[in-house]
Amino acid sequence: MDEPLDAEHLPVLVDEALRYLAPERGGLYVDATVGLGGHAEALLEAAPGARLLGIDRDPAALARAGARLARFGPRARLLAGRFSELPRLLAEAEGPAARPAGVLADLGLSSLQLDTPGRGFSFRFDAPLDMRMGPGGETAGEIVNRYPEADLTRIFKEYGEERQARRVARAVVGAREEAPIETTGRLREVILEVKGLGPAGPGGPRREGRVDPATRVFQALRIEVNRELAELERFLDEAARLLDGDGRLVVISYHSLEDRIVKNTFRDLARGEIDEVTGRPRAESRILEVLTKKPVRPSADEVARNPRARSGRLRAAARRTPAEREDARRPPEP
Ligand SMILES: C[S@@+](CC[C@H](N)C(=O)[O-])C[C@H]1O[C@@H](n2cnc3c(N)ncnc32)[C@H](O)[C@@H]1O
Repeated sequence: MDEPLDAEHLPVLVDEALRYLAPERGGLYVDATVGLGGHAEALLEAAPGARLLGIDRDPAALARAGARLARFGPRARLLAGRFSELPRLLAEAEGPAARPAGVLADLGLSSLQLDTPGRGFSFRFDAPLDMRMGPGGETAGEIVNRYPEADLTRIFKEYGEERQARRVARAVVGAREEAPIETTGRLREVILEVKGLGPAGPGGPRREGRVDPATRVFQALRIEVNRELAELERFLDEAARLLDGDGRLVVISYHSLEDRIVKNTFRDLARGEIDEVTGRPRAESRILEVLTKKPVRPSADEVARNPRARSGRLRAAARRTPAEREDARRPPEP
């Protein structure tokens, strides 16, 4: 595939992620989205007593991460797979009793994915509508040309928060009746026309405020192609249950749909499931303590150095029962 030469990746919120993961305690850490290995490298460098299992669904990313982490020898192991399969991947790599001291997920796309024209994630390049992060599954092109109008409307609305979802879906269905929509460029033109910004519209700037008018629909398709929200929900629940005592779960997200899932799942796992008989939370289901009251955002300095950090939000939790939370709060004996 036509890879960019300059797919340098600066990890987002890396100091903050390490502060919550606390790898200086040693043990096994899982980077569930190892990508180009930026966070993984920082963790292994900061903590000689820590080992890392890096997972990614994208084989191209794993090849890059492998080269970057080779100098750590057996302290870094990499596995291809989806993070919703964490229990199986962890058991295969480390045995069924393995309990990580920390799990990190840095969601979304890597710069390698965004900047590789042939992968179809970005409308900056005219390319086939693919958008798959890893092998298998339907491409964005197949979805755009196959889904009924009502499903396209729902996806554009729910996953893209696109205000003109119904009109865009209708235009997509109209356009594909003439000829299949096969490229990022053609899809963008269809969206621009709906918004009166394309060649058939009154012209003028092809932007809605600061973002390209195609951004929301592209985000929606990418989420649908990769089943991103379902992946995240399953992963968070499983990762929390796998953690060792005081194990840390750190998640960096880049849009409000993901951040809401992280916030609500952490809250539910901290509060516990309500027992239908007693109406009170069942103690054994209260397994997390949330460490970040509000999401941690990148500093102005970081955003200036790395504009892709702009929308990043980090949330962290620790594996702790209610009794352990009480103990942690009690002042030390004199
Ligand atoms: C923002 S990048 C991670 C960058 C990485 N932290 C670094 O410093 O280089 C996100 C990565 O997560 C991967 N990814 C997204 N969803 C995934 C999933 N469900 N399972 C496994 N990997 C996933 C993507 O393929 C991508 O490589």
